[in-house]
Amino acid sequence: MSARDQFDVLLLPGDGIGPEVVGAARRVMDAAAEHFGVEVRYEERPIGGAAIREAGEPVSDETLETARASDAVLLGAVGHPDFDGGSVRPEAGLLKLRKSLGVFANLRPVAAIPALAGASTLKPEVLDGVDILVVRELTGGIYFGEKEEGGDYASDLCEYRREEVERVARVAFESARRRKRRVTSVDKANILATSRLWRGVVEEVARDYPEVELDHVLVDAAAMFLIRDPGRFDVILTENMFGDILSDEAAMLPGSMGMLASASLGEPGSPGVYEPVHGSAPDIAGRGVANPYATIISAAMMFRHSLGRPDVAESIEQGVSTGLEAHYLTPDLGGNKSTEEVAGAVSRWIGAGEGVA
Ligand code: NAD
Ligand code: IPM
Ligand code: MN
Repeated sequence: MSARDQFDVLLLPGDGIGPEVVGAARRVMDAAAEHFGVEVRYEERPIGGAAIREAGEPVSDETLETARASDAVLLGAVGHPDFDGGSVRPEAGLLKLRKSLGVFANLRPVAAIPALAGASTLKPEVLDGVDILVVRELTGGIYFGEKEEGGDYASDLCEYRREEVERVARVAFESARRRKRRVTSVDKANILATSRLWRGVVEEVARDYPEVELDHVLVDAAAMFLIRDPGRFDVILTENMFGDILSDEAAMLPGSMGMLASASLGEPGSPGVYEPVHGSAPDIAGRGVANPYATIISAAMMFRHSLGRPDVAESIEQGVSTGLEAHYLTPDLGGNKSTEEVAGAVSRWIGAGEGVA
């Protein structure tokens, strides 16, 4: 079968720096599309606070329908302090999108990048060769359990079912098989019933992957190991909230929230959601200085995982490497380039091979 060359991508820029980083990624995707002779047809819709302002809800049914009909979704970020304390939260739009597309496996690659050695808070020797894939369960756990709120009592229910653990565990083992063949499952099995179910199911799945080594680490210790000895990890498999927290911590390995990309995948053939790990960064929004690399790398992951074009993905990743090596860095990485300057430079380097312009 020949490679596809026409794609429908839904852009959901969202709030804060979301539109800035999605605009930058779109520019890079356009350059890549032109270089490879592929056509990317975009639709764009509001999500989060932008959607609440426009229509009173954080994601509309039409947007969910468009997402389901697309090949993939590229999202910026949702959330704004204006909605704190309100009855409708922007973040609810993202959760609903994830749940309704069934994107249960969230892949968050984290690598130390030599060109950014100065940006990390960790010593260079701790970072040597670090290359981790966090596989975060994304549509279950405490995020989606029943909630009670109001008055002097509140409750969030944390639930997991066997099938939910099993399917994300398989994604982690399949990924590990193509990497360093090691899965570290992170849980809190000394305290939580859901973690004991998690651990048991992960061990069962592991039996199908004898070539992959499995270990279990409690989440509090995992948080410590992540900065003491990140090189001990290959694939980290964990539940929804632990994965959320550990991946922000892991952002300090490359040195900025602006470097971590993600792919959220469901059943094969269903559209994936691609988004940076960071949020809407209201503290720097509107100033044109947001780091767009995480979103650009997310776009590369989209070409690889949802659009079946690893060649396009690699050329975007090559453009990113060239940009970093040429010190096209935004202020969070210690540079003085703008979002647009980074996007422009990466776009120019698409297809330019190793050469730095
Ligand atoms: P955040 O990730 O937005 O920001 C944390 C810090 O990192 C800030 O100092 C910010 O300036 C910096 N930062 C983040 N991304 C950056 C980038 N691309 N370039 C440069 N600096 C960057 O987290 P927060 O401040 O805790 O949350 C702000 C809002 O974003 C909240 O409403 C939260 O719910 C939301 N949020 C959304 C997502 C998402 O849409 N996936 C993820 C995380 C947080
Ligand atoms: C993330 C974010 C989201 C999460 C929020 C905004 C719902 O922090 O994608 O990491 O907690 O999953
Ligand atoms: Mn998060």
